[in-house]
Amino acid sequence: MEILFNLDVMDKGFLYEESVRILRTNLQFSGANLKVILFTSSIHGEGKSETSLQLARSLAQIDKRILYIDADMRKSMLTTRYHIKEEVEGLSQFLSGMNTDNIIYKTNIKNMDVVFSGPYAPNPAELLYELKLDEFIKEQRKIYDYIIIDAPPISNIVDAAIIGRCVDGAVIVVRSSTVSQRMVKRVKDQLEKVNCKIIGAVLNGVEMKKNSYHYKYYGDYYSYKK
Ligand SMILES: Nc1ncnc2c1ncn2[C@@H]1O[C@H](COP(=O)(O)OP(=O)(O)OP(=O)(O)O)[C@@H](O)[C@H]1O
Ligand SMILES: [Mg+2]
Repeated sequence: MEILFNLDVMDKGFLYEESVRILRTNLQFSGANLKVILFTSSIHGEGKSETSLQLARSLAQIDKRILYIDADMRKSMLTTRYHIKEEVEGLSQFLSGMNTDNIIYKTNIKNMDVVFSGPYAPNPAELLYELKLDEFIKEQRKIYDYIIIDAPPISNIVDAAIIGRCVDGAVIVVRSSTVSQRMVKRVKDQLEKVNCKIIGAVLNGVEMKKNSYHYKYYGDYYSYKK
């Protein structure tokens, strides 16, 4: 029996939705060859999972076929946020060579499938070096329009930089006023070391003023040039 996972992506109001649409449009205009996109940040809690999930949903809404990969094997976002109780096989099992039939699951969001991170793995960095990851992504490129990968932060974990080798580009999520320019620069340097193209940065948690009202909205997209 096929399991269909219910991902209730919270609506966050018009301004937020609008900024996700801007992010979506900017990505679409960033090049036809940008299919596999990694999301990372400097530290925990800057909004990678929220932003990447919202973007994935937004792309699915315009009929793009999306594969969303929760690649944080240290702290799975999907299983904790959506209280997934079912036995699912995820990335950690697949990469460690366990007998996994299938790690792609359907969701209630039309056009959007997911890969769970799988049970906590003590050695995620080693697993992510596996050629199996490259092969898996290569196969899925043939099926999906976009593969969105939610990775851990880069500050003291190398996972995101390792995944960087098999993506077309990365988006750095920056929680406004939480991290310094120096920290963001370090993320950029780490990704560039593995020749990962940086598509841009999302400034999350921006206080906006509009028509004299205060709008607190999250997720402004700034593409930045080197
Ligand atoms: N724009 C936003 N509006 C409202 N809440 C937000 C926003 N961005 C993030 N959050 C909330 O902040 C918390 C941290 O966000 P999120 O889980 O996306 O961060 P993360 O970078 O993925 O963290 P981690 O590194 O721990 O995986 C979550 O509870 C999320 O719902
Ligand atoms: Mg996360």
